[in-house]
Amino acid sequence: MENNRKTIIAGNWKMNKTTTEAVELIDALIPAVADAQCEVVICTPFTALATAVEKTRGTNIHVGAQNVHFEQSGAFTGEISAEMLVDLGVEYVITGHSERRQYFAETDETVNKRTLAALNAGLKVLVCVGENLEQREQGVTEELVRLQTKIALQGVTKEQLPQVVIAYEPVWAIGTGKTATSDQAQEVCGCIRQLLGELYGEDTAQTVTIQYGGSMNPANAEELLGKPDVDGGLIGGASLKADAFASIVAAASR
Ligand code: 13P
Repeated sequence: MENNRKTIIAGNWKMNKTTTEAVELIDALIPAVADAQCEVVICTPFTALATAVEKTRGTNIHVGAQNVHFEQSGAFTGEISAEMLVDLGVEYVITGHSERRQYFAETDETVNKRTLAALNAGLKVLVCVGENLEQREQGVTEELVRLQTKIALQGVTKEQLPQVVIAYEPVWAIGTGKTATSDQAQEVCGCIRQLLGELYGEDTAQTVTIQYGGSMNPANAEELLGKPDVDGGLIGGASLKADAFASIVAAASR
């Protein structure tokens, strides 16, 4: 079924690329994705954001951060506020990435607080949800992903929802080379859309971009993106090489 949702391919560089390396990658990316028929986003480390914003000005590449604190300012050593990101010219931010949940004590509640703070500051948010291997084997994937999504969106209004993208990232598929099958991705992305329908109404749910992430690469992107409820990708490893990332963007543009 045709839809008019925005397809978004976003690179999550994670803790990779010095500013010097970021310049090299962006220089290679600009011509490689210039003809994209989808939205292209790069989420760089904090240290490369200012450079990325500067380098991509006037191009079709949008810049995002990988995390944001929920307070506006104050004694939060090492943290970065939404206002600081906006001030730099950053447009997107990722919240709730599984690596932050796993290694930095992120909870559904803090994901919600970060998401609200980012939206209230005018950022677009890529909210990550997804089950780990044990949860998949226990057969609780749908309940878990529904719960994560519902809590992440507490207090997010219908008016703010167009600024929200949901990224379904099964933890067992991240960085493992073990991609979810396109049917598995569709099943969970469809279930997220159903939940959005319950929360915001079916018409609104049909407009939300839902991405898949987890070992997406040039070889599997087209098949995954061909599924009706998979509207884009959040790309880790393959976003660090211009040619691989551009191939995924090309697959999303077809
Ligand atoms: P990989 O593409 O390296 O599996 O990472 C996916 C991811 O976590 C993107 O946020």
